[in-house]
Amino acid sequence: MHSHSRPVLAANWKMNLGTVEAGAFLDGFLSRYAPRDDRTVILFPSALVVSTVRDGTRKRPDIQLGVQNVSTEEKGAFTGENSAAMAAGAGASFVLVGHSERRHVFGEADAQAAQKCARVVEHGLVPLLCVGETIEQRERGETGEVVLHQLRAGLSMLSHEAIRDMIVAYEPVWAIGTGRTATPQDATDVHLVLRAALAGLVGEDARGIPLLYGGSVNAKNSSALLAAHEVDGLLVGGASLDPVQWAEICGS
Ligand code: PGA
Repeated sequence: MHSHSRPVLAANWKMNLGTVEAGAFLDGFLSRYAPRDDRTVILFPSALVVSTVRDGTRKRPDIQLGVQNVSTEEKGAFTGENSAAMAAGAGASFVLVGHSERRHVFGEADAQAAQKCARVVEHGLVPLLCVGETIEQRERGETGEVVLHQLRAGLSMLSHEAIRDMIVAYEPVWAIGTGRTATPQDATDVHLVLRAALAGLVGEDARGIPLLYGGSVNAKNSSALLAAHEVDGLLVGGASLDPVQWAEICGS
């Protein structure tokens, strides 16, 4: 059962698919996935490939575009960074914030996730805030506490309206890229906690905030996860790199 009527299927390509591969991906994917008005598909390519994907989906306004990260800063001497304004200018509508790899590989803290969410909203983009516990935290029974802390901290600089319009993804760190998927019930349990916290912040509007599950989603488990109570969509890494499998997931 979905509290949000239009499931969101989001592809996080991470540091995969350059310009040439992305073009081939679109040829394969778009021919297999016809536009549907009962779901939202978002692609998150590398920032260097956003304009290629934007051009390649020009005839497919149903396909939305996002970037995987932006700077906390507006502009200036930050070699190697991309700003939210640049993401907007390149055609992105969404920005991943606080992805597990940003937190655990690059040491990003909650304070930065909060600043990034604020920066993203300032430029008219929608943040997709990711939260999730490590296996050690899960085993210590801290899952709820960890995801609530990440959620509240990440949203701390946002207005009611911005929170209402955003997307949240629950991605247990132990399930990302490991082949070890959470069960639909695991996803539901955590999504209920997140939904209740969002309701505490924005009341009834919390029902319209898509809560995505991510972590080793593939074409075999996507339907069951999507059918789980309180799961409004999926954030997919590895399996989104294959146009055939991604088309299947988008059809699930
Ligand atoms: P995975 O990645 O599907 O490869 O586990 C998910 C993610 O990190 O968003």
